Amino acid sequence: MRDRIRVCLIGCGRAGMIHAKSYAGLVNGAELAAICDADAKNLAAAQKIVNVRFVYNDYREALKNDEIDAVIVVTPTRFHKDIVCAAANAGKHIFCEKPMASSPEECDEMIESCRKNNVKLQIGFMRRFDKNFKRGREIIDSGVIGPVAMIKSNTYGPSEPKEWMYDIRNNQGPIGEVNSHDLDICRWYAGSEPRRIYAVGNNFRSPEKAAEYPDYYDSCSVTIEFANGVIGVVTGAQYVQYGYDARTEILGTKGIVKVGTQRADSVETVTRDMTIVSDSMDSWRTLFREAYVAEAQAFADSILNDTEPQVTGYDGKIALTMVNAGVRSYLEKRPVDI
Ligand SMILES: NC(=O)c1ccc[n+]([C@@H]2O[C@H](COP(=O)([O-])OP(=O)(O)OC[C@H]3O[C@@H](n4cnc5c(N)ncnc54)[C@H](O)[C@@H]3O)[C@@H](O)[C@H]2O)c1
Repeated sequence: MRDRIRVCLIGCGRAGMIHAKSYAGLVNGAELAAICDADAKNLAAAQKIVNVRFVYNDYREALKNDEIDAVIVVTPTRFHKDIVCAAANAGKHIFCEKPMASSPEECDEMIESCRKNNVKLQIGFMRRFDKNFKRGREIIDSGVIGPVAMIKSNTYGPSEPKEWMYDIRNNQGPIGEVNSHDLDICRWYAGSEPRRIYAVGNNFRSPEKAAEYPDYYDSCSVTIEFANGVIGVVTGAQYVQYGYDARTEILGTKGIVKVGTQRADSVETVTRDMTIVSDSMDSWRTLFREAYVAEAQAFADSILNDTEPQVTGYDGKIALTMVNAGVRSYLEKRPVDI
């Protein structure tokens, strides 16, 4: 192994370009050597932002390049399994965005391909690298709030859904796209595996879509029973319009830890009409900017030091299992055992 890894980004969209910027100068021991996107327009746009030696429109060509040590897979979720398995068979280390794949069976195939080819596999749960979420975990581990009883985690996003997002039979909706982060963080804080899930949801903000997409939901609540008795409650919403809102509470038997705030900073303006005004967090890109760099650094370090990634394929598989059980519970209107 070289003392510096060369990375190829596969998928230069919204999340992909965050990773591109991390590896283009912010990660010690790693460099962005190549980018790949199936869409010529997106590829050209990415080339204007980052300077790389190799550019591909077909990931299979990128995998033939011996100069590339690792790939960062940030395509839409339905392509993750094929790309990850092909990359593992080509001997590349892999960072794969969440949700890991479409089914637990696909996750198993990805994990097995990486094991067989002795390459690293890290999944994109960057909240585990965020300094506030990490501090939450340290406080739990210190014992100061006593054993954890209940975890409440919400993520509400501002953006209007894209047309494909209304079709819940072909994507998992907010439970997958947004709340997979909350489900993973609940499991991380609970220190236990999920046993049963019950989800309810409804469409409040796009009533005009209800006739064409009767299963669409823009708001949901997911209750999780963990094996050690901890109760998780995850709420999700999209198109909330007031900003990006991600907060988690961990209630112990002797105290509570609250992680996250809606505020963008600590600046307040108070005027004589007796109002207090401050800025709202606009986006996950802003809130987790440093966490994305820290997660990229951890991936590079795990390759260079030959250590286990901090968020494994198994973590990705369990989160995906929770997502799929949640969507099934919502559609079938009953609790689902895991
Ligand atoms: N960790 C996070 O916070 C976070 C945030 C957003 C998205 N995501 C995840 O990242 C993934 C991508 O989401 P996005 O919002 O960036 O999507 P996007 O649509 O903005 O970008 C996807 C890109 O992949 C390209 N692409 C599609 N098929 C390809 C293929 N076969 N080979 C190469 N390129 C291909 C598309 O042309 C597009 O440029 C999803 O799995 C999503 O859930 C994670």
